[in-house]
Amino acid sequence: MTSTATEPDTRTGAPRTTSAAAPARRTAPDGVRLEAVARGFDGPQGRHEVLRDLDLDLGAGEIAAVVGPSGCGKSTLLRLVAGLDRPSAGEIRLGDSPLRGTDPRTAVAFQEPRLLPWRTLEKNVALGLPRGTGRAEGRDRVRHLLQLVGLEHAAALRPREVSGGMAQRASLARALARSPEVLLLDEPFGALDALTRLRMQDLLLEIHAAEPTTVLVVTHDVEEALYLADRVLLLRSLREDSVSGSIARDLDVPGTRPRDRADRELAALRAELLEGLGVHTHHTAPTPSEISS
Ligand SMILES: Nc1ncnc2c1ncn2[C@@H]1O[C@H](COP(=O)(O)OP(=O)(O)O)[C@@H](O)[C@H]1O
Ligand SMILES: [Mg+2]
Repeated sequence: MTSTATEPDTRTGAPRTTSAAAPARRTAPDGVRLEAVARGFDGPQGRHEVLRDLDLDLGAGEIAAVVGPSGCGKSTLLRLVAGLDRPSAGEIRLGDSPLRGTDPRTAVAFQEPRLLPWRTLEKNVALGLPRGTGRAEGRDRVRHLLQLVGLEHAAALRPREVSGGMAQRASLARALARSPEVLLLDEPFGALDALTRLRMQDLLLEIHAAEPTTVLVVTHDVEEALYLADRVLLLRSLREDSVSGSIARDLDVPGTRPRDRADRELAALRAELLEGLGVHTHHTAPTPSEISS
């Protein structure tokens, strides 16, 4: 869903032509800013407010994780930033410009890989390339991405011929194909087994080191949030709170990546986040094997 030829370029305000379609840009990635964002839905019982008074400034290249109780609006937030939905109030900015619908600078991946079953992994990844990418350039980019996610040997396989983890890696590669400046991930590893999940977390960090995009990742796994992110946002459910804004906590995660999963400081943050989620821990320094998700 890239812009049509008549829409102005969101970055420069200049008319965008199809012939100028995006060569892969690797400038400094854009940050994301949300100001007083709200989103509500009208239902049979009246207005249901999901997000309220949400301010967020995501620095370029930053990885932020979003956690919160089921139904608190995590996916709604991600869809807003993806430009797939519009806020009821407030504004979202990408870099210098207000967001007006989907933007070629952002890419999204979901819990299900959503690959086309009749296409090879290579062709699925190629679907993510920006419109107008030259054939040779596209082939090189896809090859590079398949390598980055460790699928170079599976390029010719179809989704039904590969494991869930491999399909999810292909989905990540497809999202990266356009060299997004903002990568939005909604529980990207939620359907994978525990070991594959840990591997995918490391893969995401490797990708981020190689192509430093701004990342907003929704997860229900507090351990995962603390392992991946520079910053963890805990959203509250507005059903239980009629006055506060949506962000209950905004925690900086100390240390540099790759993090030690057993770090004591992380254990303290984990306890704080779990408590915010209504789960009470009894140990000050829980071990990773206590992962509860
Ligand atoms: N398009 C929509 N129309 C009506 N209600 C919606 C819509 N999208 C989300 N909601 C409601 O918003 C709430 C938050 O949903 P969601 O963002 O998917 O939660 P989460 O991802 O945190 O589990 C839910 O109650 C959901 O039913
Ligand atoms: Mg969700």
